[in-house]
Amino acid sequence: MIELINVTKVYGGEKLAVDDITLTINDGEIFGFLGPNGAGKTTAIKMITGITPLTSGEILLNGKSITSDALNAKKEFGFVPDDPNILLRLKGIEYLNFIGTIYGVDKETRDERIKRLADKFELASDLGNRIENYSHGMRQKLLVIGVLLHDPNIWILDEPMTGLDPQSAFILKEMMREHADKGNIVFFSTHVLEVAEKVCDRIGIIANGKILFVGTVSELKTFLNADESDKSLETLFLELVNNGQAK
Ligand SMILES: Nc1ncnc2c1ncn2[C@@H]1O[C@H](COP(=O)(O)OP(=O)(O)O)[C@@H](O)[C@H]1O
Ligand SMILES: [Mg+2]
Repeated sequence: MIELINVTKVYGGEKLAVDDITLTINDGEIFGFLGPNGAGKTTAIKMITGITPLTSGEILLNGKSITSDALNAKKEFGFVPDDPNILLRLKGIEYLNFIGTIYGVDKETRDERIKRLADKFELASDLGNRIENYSHGMRQKLLVIGVLLHDPNIWILDEPMTGLDPQSAFILKEMMREHADKGNIVFFSTHVLEVAEKVCDRIGIIANGKILFVGTVSELKTFLNADESDKSLETLFLELVNNGQAK
């Protein structure tokens, strides 16, 4: 379970990026964090993953506080950031071995998983090359493999579909479903309603740092009166987030 309790982030004493968010993500669900650019998604994810400190509030990952028990909380999740440009001088295989070592995955399991996942994402023949020579999509795939390698209960992915080719996006969506169906959590952000609609068990809509709606897509349709309206769900969604931003 992921619990956000009255979480707020103010950058530099003035920019309110996340405004008093309270949210629970349950085991077994794919939860989509949906909102326009600048809504506060990445900021929230950076707080959940302990990359940036909270201004106020509390975040628990399987009951462990990211503030007061950070090391244990960090063992609960794997994270794919929106900017996959890390450790560029390493070769793909060196990065994966590094991740395997950090998370204490034994060599046999590590080698088996790397082989299976690299084949699945068609990255096997590139693992001997340096990450600096990878495309954006290849870097993202490598990070995804890194997360799957240590098999954490909670997956956190920031805009994971951006930059992936359709085949890899399809595989990732399938793996997200499999992971959640085993009782685990997949938490990811997107600015694309269609992605959230297709993949998520529940979505949380965020705009201007505030949560405007949490529920299933069918509950969203009711919330927006979509069946009574001539407008598409996308139009109604955009109206919602734009009104939210004007507040
Ligand atoms: N390090 C930072 N310092 C100041 N403002 C920031 C910083 N990072 C993000 N912001 C601002 O916080 C808001 C939320 O940004 P972000 O969380 O990246 O949104 P999203 O991921 O939804 O596009 C934006 O207005 C952005 O400009
Ligand atoms: Mg972002």
